[in-house]
Amino acid sequence: MSRVFNKILAFFNLESGSFVRAIMQPMRFDIFTLFPEVFQPYLQTSILERAQQKGLIEVHLHNIRDYTTDKHHITDDEPYGGGGGMVMKPEPIFAAVESVLGSPPACPVVLLTPQGRTFNYRIAQEYAQLPALALICGRYEGIDERVREHLVTDELSIGDYVLSGGELPALVVLDAVSRFLPGVLGDPDGATDDSYALGLLEYPHYTRPAEFRGWQVPQVLLSGDHGRIARWRREQALLRTWQRRPDLLEKATLSGEDQAFLERLRSAQENPFQGDNDEV
Ligand code: ADE
Repeated sequence: MSRVFNKILAFFNLESGSFVRAIMQPMRFDIFTLFPEVFQPYLQTSILERAQQKGLIEVHLHNIRDYTTDKHHITDDEPYGGGGGMVMKPEPIFAAVESVLGSPPACPVVLLTPQGRTFNYRIAQEYAQLPALALICGRYEGIDERVREHLVTDELSIGDYVLSGGELPALVVLDAVSRFLPGVLGDPDGATDDSYALGLLEYPHYTRPAEFRGWQVPQVLLSGDHGRIARWRREQALLRTWQRRPDLLEKATLSGEDQAFLERLRSAQENPFQGDNDEV
């Protein structure tokens, strides 16, 4: 309900007023990491900085090391059973999360790990409906299994490769989720227009100059004919998706006109000389 209201306010471009800040609940992110300093530069830049200033998101960084109780502030230890690498100890992670979010934690707790389900725009959109989200960034070789079993509610991977830690993945999740919150993007429909949100890749973009090194901007974009421009963009999105990510077309919502366009693409591929003959 409040999200709908936010959307209305964002539509009328009212989100920058203090009135709006006073009545809108920001989405809260709690990030648990051994390296909080790596987040600051990104959080102080562009869209995420503005989202915080407008009171649309709140980001709280927590250093797991601050929750150790030993003299040397140790957060990792050797694995039981031997083997290489170090494992993140459970106590400081539980202490950090529970002292900030309660026990059990008051919001979903996501562990960033290559073993998680693969993050995508649908998960981002789903998380954007929540009032709060906690992200735990793993490091070292791994994290004590009891954290997964008894603290974490979801595990996310940002792709089939291994990074040095969960910090970059946490930023990816934070950024992608924030883009779905009303008012975060200047255009209220911004995130729904993005690639993937429509189930298609985006059409190509151009800006001034109309000619650069002899390369022209497509004439249709200069025509001022909004109907033709919309049609051209839709067809370019379909063409691009068909060329690069045909798997997305299976799930996309397509009109009769879209289907007909794709049919023409397919038959042009199967009969490459057909079009030439037609024109003769
Ligand atoms: N930590 C290390 N690699 C990761 C990945 N690919 N996704 C999420 N967390 C990670």
